Amino acid sequence: MAQDDHSGTELAAADSSHAAQEFAGPTGTAVIPYDAFENPGFAPHRPRVTDEDPKREKRAQRTVYTLFYLSILGSVWAIAAYILIPIESNDVDAVRLNNMFIGLGATLALLGIGFGAVHWGKSLMTSAESIDIRHPIGSTEATKQGAVEVFRQADEESGFSRRSVIRNSLIGALLAFPLPAVVLFRGLAPQNQLPVELLSHTMWAKGTRLALDPSGVPIKAADVTIGSAFHVIPEGLAELEHGKLEEKAKAAVLLMRLEPSELNQAPDRVTWSYDGIVAYSKICTHVGCPVALYEQHTHHLLCPCHQSQFDVANHCEVIFGPAKRPLPQLPIAVDDEGYLIAQSDFTEPVGPSFWERN
Ligand code: FES
Repeated sequence: MAQDDHSGTELAAADSSHAAQEFAGPTGTAVIPYDAFENPGFAPHRPRVTDEDPKREKRAQRTVYTLFYLSILGSVWAIAAYILIPIESNDVDAVRLNNMFIGLGATLALLGIGFGAVHWGKSLMTSAESIDIRHPIGSTEATKQGAVEVFRQADEESGFSRRSVIRNSLIGALLAFPLPAVVLFRGLAPQNQLPVELLSHTMWAKGTRLALDPSGVPIKAADVTIGSAFHVIPEGLAELEHGKLEEKAKAAVLLMRLEPSELNQAPDRVTWSYDGIVAYSKICTHVGCPVALYEQHTHHLLCPCHQSQFDVANHCEVIFGPAKRPLPQLPIAVDDEGYLIAQSDFTEPVGPSFWERN
């Protein structure tokens, strides 16, 4: 029993009150809860078939090691796939085959370990209830005194408190040391534009047509039926040769059509929608995930990352979750040919709220 060294797990019989009695009395540093439950509600222990039938036990053992061997096979398979199906540049089929076979091997390897471990635990490892003896978490008074003495001695020997100039210059050096890393972040943005400026504008401009993501086909107002939602990009984004992803990360929009009577529009935004069609930034104002789920009946948008919800009928105000401000609205109109166009860029920065805190 681990009672002697107070370190292990006690395997107890089904009756926990018996266990409590067994551990009562002077047991060194172990904390014995004197008011322990008589029986915390354990069902009587029921032996499994593998506990009673040696044949079933052997069979379970075979299953477990077979699963582990399958896992090894999966790992070898994945390595072989990597070697035998090399990725040739520009050969999409080779990439697909390579990924598929490596994925199959890795899946087999993981499932083999997972299923094997679960089966081992459920059928062969002991199923008896156990009691962990708790020990005091805090250090003893003597240990604390010892630690204080070590610090005091180190201070005295190093002169940290006494030599204040050295101490203060060291603190200054430690504070200055991370600064180059902070400055290097500047390199993440193009050198000829201020990062804040870059984040404040998107590809949307007066007259830019709203186009389907990812095809880039312009959208006519007549195509947007009530209750529908479209993932939208600015026309021309799909053809960009450079910076396509960066622009899309700022300009992605969700387009929805509600009954005009269901839209609660502020007086200064009445002209920002067209016959119940509204466009809002798809970039969540919490930490920038794409808000991709639209619930047609409630007109709620849901961000899958941390469950922020926005009410489309009320200017995409936050109704739940950690986001702190509504999704920015893109003012839209319709051109002479019936296509939906932007009236301007967003009137506020899209994405996480910190961008607008100067
Ligand atoms: Fe949308 Fe966190 S990023 S809720």
